[in-house]
Amino acid sequence: MKKIKDTIEKIEKSCMQSCSKAKTADELEQIRVEYLGRNGKIAELMSTLKNCSLEEKRELGPLLNTLKTLLQETYETHKKRIDAKSITKQLFDVTAYRPHQLRGSTHIYTQLIHELSTIFISMGYTVADGPEVETEYYNFTTLNIPEDHPARDSHDTFWLCSPDRLLRTHTSSVQAHEMEKTTPPLAVFAPGRAYRSEATDATHDFMFTQGEILLINTDVSISNLLATAQEFLQAFFGKNDLKIRVRPGYFPFVEPGLEIDGSCPFCTTGCAICKKTGWIELLGSGLVHPKVLQYSGIDPEKYSGFALGFGIERLAMIKYGINDIRLFHSSNISFMNQF
Ligand code: PHE
Repeated sequence: MKKIKDTIEKIEKSCMQSCSKAKTADELEQIRVEYLGRNGKIAELMSTLKNCSLEEKRELGPLLNTLKTLLQETYETHKKRIDAKSITKQLFDVTAYRPHQLRGSTHIYTQLIHELSTIFISMGYTVADGPEVETEYYNFTTLNIPEDHPARDSHDTFWLCSPDRLLRTHTSSVQAHEMEKTTPPLAVFAPGRAYRSEATDATHDFMFTQGEILLINTDVSISNLLATAQEFLQAFFGKNDLKIRVRPGYFPFVEPGLEIDGSCPFCTTGCAICKKTGWIELLGSGLVHPKVLQYSGIDPEKYSGFALGFGIERLAMIKYGINDIRLFHSSNISFMNQF
């Protein structure tokens, strides 16, 4: 009697273990036959009851029935598990490939943002993100563009129905968010979409992507800005001898403001890309305006910084010879397949 009770326990344990280890329907079926089949372990135990006394039969009978039900249920549970797995596999076999079928790849936007992030991360920056639906405060006010400032008009803003909400017109809107989050030193690269309500043509689009660099520390100077700009452009265009030159530029949130041109990566004497000048306009930049620092609670007596911004499509168009900015979000397969 004690022996039979021990066997019942052993069978319960080993059947449950085997079921949970089973990976295929075939493996599970073998276990079912081994335990619950006509000549299986349960049937074998049932037949030993014949030789037991009436009293023993009364005690062991219900125990055996409970065991049988338990194993039956365990089997059903694992059957469901294995069936569900094989259906998922059939539906989502991501490796399935038929000849001549179009295959997906990483979109050029993703590739560019990844490439740019890698460059800036290698220079010690972290990647930052900000909202595309912005408030006037972050898009304009904190950037020293107060209401009635003519620079607001030049941004051709998409205003949203809810008051004070707009689609950000540049990624400079990320600056104040980042400055509020941390105390200097601060070095961030913020890539992302920007929107302007303007007519589209080969070089303008209502939606485009920009990259913004912001560095705040003690004693940041224009030489830091220029060295960063040159190193970045050399890395992006893969040209160690790329040179830069600066022209004065006006952006209300930097003082002084600089437009940075790069020497043409494709020629030395002038070509169609640089319009025979040998130089291409590439970046907007400058030292962060003291008022911008003040807006975010940073002491301009103690800290200084630089900001640098660029159109990601514009840089890619120059690098890869793309002649229409609208191709980037056109879903044109033959365009995208080239990257
Ligand atoms: N936000 C500016 C633009 O969209 C670019 C810029 C960024 C200029 C940072 C200076 C410094 O035109």
